[in-house]
Order: sequence, then C-alpha cells, then structure tokens
Amino acid sequence: MELERIFPGKTIVFGVAGCIAAYKAADLVSRLKKLGADIHVIMTQSAGELVRPMTFQTLSQNPVHTDMWAEPKKWNVEHIGLADSADLFMIVPATANIIGKIANGIADDMLSTTVMAVKAPIVIAPAMNAKMYDNPIVQTNIEKLKDLGYHIVEPDYGYLACGYEGKGRLPDNEVILKAACKALSSEKDLAGKRVLVTAGPTREALDPIRHLTNPSTGKMGYAVAEEARNRGAEVILISGPTMLPPPKGMKVINIKSAVEMHKAVLDHYDETDIVIKSAAVSDYRPADIADKKIKKDDVTEEQLVINLERNPDILLELGQRKGNKILVGFAAETDDLLTNAKAKIEKKNLDLVVANDVTQEGAGFASDTNIAKIIYRDGSIEEVPKMTKKELAELVIDKVKKLVP
Ligand code: PMT
Repeated sequence: MELERIFPGKTIVFGVAGCIAAYKAADLVSRLKKLGADIHVIMTQSAGELVRPMTFQTLSQNPVHTDMWAEPKKWNVEHIGLADSADLFMIVPATANIIGKIANGIADDMLSTTVMAVKAPIVIAPAMNAKMYDNPIVQTNIEKLKDLGYHIVEPDYGYLACGYEGKGRLPDNEVILKAACKALSSEKDLAGKRVLVTAGPTREALDPIRHLTNPSTGKMGYAVAEEARNRGAEVILISGPTMLPPPKGMKVINIKSAVEMHKAVLDHYDETDIVIKSAAVSDYRPADIADKKIKKDDVTEEQLVINLERNPDILLELGQRKGNKILVGFAAETDDLLTNAKAKIEKKNLDLVVANDVTQEGAGFASDTNIAKIIYRDGSIEEVPKMTKKELAELVIDKVKKLVP
C-alpha cells in the first residue's frame, strides 16, 4: 500500500555496479517502473559486461547512461542534470569498488561522478563475496557512508555466486523497495527537533579498578541516535562506556555512573523535545567507594558484603516534569514483560515503552537483533518480530514521529 502511494511520479536515478547480482537489479527496475516511478539507469562499465544496457533501457523506457563522454542529448551537463532530477538515488548492487569511491570522494566515471552531486536521499545495497564484505576497509567505508546519512541495505547471509556461503547476498527486492520507500518518505521528518538518547551501561565503582555493571553494549541506543540524526533531528547522545565508535553528526557525552548520567540528562532536558532512554542504568551503587584497590587480605569474612544505595531514577524524574516533551523508555525484563512494562509507563509518565524480554535468543543485550513489544499509554501493544536493532530503531522513530504535535 505504502509502495503504491510513495513511488508514482518520483524520479529515481538507479546505479548498477559490476556484480553478478546486477541481473536482480533488472527485476527491481521493472518493479519500480510498474509502481509509477521514472527510472534513469546509470551502469558502470563492469556492470555492462554482466547485463546489457539494452535490458535496463527496455525495462526503464529511458536511455541508459554509461559514458561520461557520450554526446549530451540536452544542453545541460548530463551528470549534473541527472543528479538534480533525482528524488531518490539508488545503487543496486553496490560493489566494494563503488562504495570505496563514494566514501573517499573519487569521481572517475558516470556513476561515481553523478552520485557526488546528488542532494536527494541515497540508498546503497552492497553485494559481494563474504570475505570482501568483511574486509575492514569495506566495513570502514560503509560505516563512513552510514555516518553521512546514506541508507545502507544490509546484505543477506546465504549462498553466494562465487561458491562461498556468508554475508554478502543482495537481499530480496522487497527489502530494497522497503528501504527505498523509507528513504523517500521519512527523510528529515524530525528536522528542527532536539532528541536526547541515552545508551549503554553504567558502571558503579567499588574501588578504582572494580565496578558493578551490566552487559549493555550500546548497540540499541546508538542505532536510535543514528536514526534520529538521519531523520534530521539535532541529537545529543549520552553514553555509558561502550566499545562503539562515537557516531558522527551529533553531540556525544560520555559518562560512567548513573549519577553522572543523571546530571548530563538533566543539564540538557530543558532544551530537548524528545527523550529516548535505551540505556541500562544501574538502580543501585556501592554505598562506599574505596579510594585505593581493595586488597584480598584487607577484608575479613564478615566484611564480604557490598552495601548498596539507590541511584536516582532518571526517567521517573523526567516524567515528573514532562510538560509537552515526548518520553520513551526501554524496559529490559526477564519475566512478566507486559505487566512490568505497563507499570513503567504509568509510574514514569511515558508516551511509550519498548519492552524486550532479555531471556529470548536474539533479543536484548549485545545481540545485533532485538525482539520487542511497543506499548502505548492507552494500553495498546504492537508486537515487533525479530529484526536488526537498526530496523527496530527506525520503527521506534516512526512511532515517535507520529506522537510529535
Ligand atoms: O545496549 P545493547 O547491548 O544493545 O542492549 C539493549 C538493551 C537491552 C540495554 C535495551 O534494549 C534496553 O532494554 N534498555 C533498557 C534497560 C533497562 O535498564 O531497563 P529498566 O527496565 O531497568 O529501566 C526502564 C527505563 O528506565 C529505561 O528506559 C532506563 O533507561 C530508565 N532508567 C532505569 C533506571 C534508572 N535508575 N534510571 C532510568 O532512567
């Protein structure tokens, strides 16, 4: 339904790079054409070795561009004209080569030169051998593009044309269509909004080298912050200690303890429109912090007890001064997921809660995927099947967007 609404009348410049999956791109172009989009295909020279330009010309009903130096058919500079005309730019399949060129500002053929001049959203669907995909240089280039707001469609895991099995397959066209639809419809819909996201664990010190903590890696919260940034919001990410690189295009504040997170969040609360608290905040901290390492022999059997005191419940405090801000909590539960999560909405005065049962395989801490229930203030519940944390982040931001007045 969404596809039928979004694509009619849209101009899509569609790049095809030299990967065997180029044959699947022909079907995608046909699908987009049937959905009412005006498609202009640019093929790299290697793509032309795998699938003939005539295939794409016939399916798109437009001339296919392959050559920077072909005689222009219009008065304007062809690659700039194409870039300007695009409502959406797609590269399917995208090879390590084209990804590397874009990430490093190399423009040496029609596709890499045109994409450099594009202001429209850009969807890139990488497809290549699994070892190539895993190569840290390719991964760094992909991360760089993500940071710059390019929409990257994760490749699938499975049998690859080169005979290997692994991650690198071009996903089904339905998945790419969904990503294209999303890029077209949701682009910058949070522009002008200030979003505060918390992520990762807190560390509650016992002494200078020991602490109480939890297994949060920050993956969920960072994905939410990146999605909010991609949608045009001004983002502040308040992060506990993680191994993740700080995302670009947002203010990142690193904290360690819940007390530090409490201060950082309150310092920025007044200037914020939306708060999404995916951090796993420790509810307690050791009542005493030794200023030197506690030595094994310094502690008697009777002293083998850690006295705790309560940390501030940050979200509870935000809820007490909610005003017209949108407040989203996460709930990590091991039992009675719905009852506990619903109680948190009430108690903390939230608009919605993303509840994950952290005992489920592929949900909660550390995994790249999550399984959630989105629970609203009115008691309604949306079940979210297993999906990547990036996809869940997109969904959460979609829900939040609907709440923005
Ligand atoms: O980081 P990952 O490895 O990707 O893992 C993701 C996750 C499991 C950490 C994430 O999906 C998640 O569930 N985050 C919330 C974990 C949690 O602390 O839940 P809670 O039920 O204890 O707290 C409920 C809400 O209150 C949370 O939004 C929490 O940030 C907030 N809270 C909790 C305690 C406290 N003292 N202050 C708070 O603000």
